[in-house]
Amino acid sequence: MAELIVALDVQTREEAVEKVKLIGDPVGFYKIGLELFTAEGPDVVKAVKDLGKKVFLDLKFHDIPRTVERAVRSGGKLGVDLMTIHSVGGKAMIRAAADAAAEFGEAGPKILAVTVLTSLDRSDLEDVGIIGRTPADQVLAMAHFATGCGAHGLVCSPMEVGALSKTLAPGTLFITPGVRPAGEAVGDQKRVATPADAVRDGSTHLVVGRPILAAPDPAAAARAILDEMSLKA
Ligand code: C5P
Repeated sequence: MAELIVALDVQTREEAVEKVKLIGDPVGFYKIGLELFTAEGPDVVKAVKDLGKKVFLDLKFHDIPRTVERAVRSGGKLGVDLMTIHSVGGKAMIRAAADAAAEFGEAGPKILAVTVLTSLDRSDLEDVGIIGRTPADQVLAMAHFATGCGAHGLVCSPMEVGALSKTLAPGTLFITPGVRPAGEAVGDQKRVATPADAVRDGSTHLVVGRPILAAPDPAAAARAILDEMSLKA
């Protein structure tokens, strides 16, 4: 059964706690990203964990292996459940992240690799020396590379998840943002899928922000998305 993760894209710890309490029981998983973490630090992670929720710490590490290993260990000590790294950090960095996560056993953090940022197109890839490969080719290559080095899963767009879930090992996690309930405003997301489509195509975790946080009744909006996730249309 796929899980719903709500992106806590707010600026303060107080707002974060208020939103988590307002959404209540239907949602058990929250994403804390660069904006909130840079503003509030580990205290906001602790606050969400203290409310009995799981935390996806989305800081997209990309550094030398020793630094990433130690940062993942810090996340494990905080009780973080999912963490992101950039797959272009290389084999030793990905292995170091996975090894540090493994120290915490089954309950420890799972490492998710970012393959190609969805903000990059073919000419952006060429600028950094990736010539002759489309973003889709590069996503597929990096997905196999990162999971082969020990990453537990991938962050990918709902447009990519179908192709990836068919070729990667069973048990790989697929975390997909860019999900919008049927009929909802898409905001700045360009390529979106409905919750039912994303689950049908193999998403194991759906990340949804504004359609829940900005709804007049966030708990009801979350419940409606959970209902759509169970449809698998
Ligand atoms: O509000 P919305 O549902 O668009 O939020 C989606 C969340 O997922 C945001 O935190 C955004 O930064 C993140 N994300 C994304 N697209 C990606 C990677 C991450 O929307 N390709």
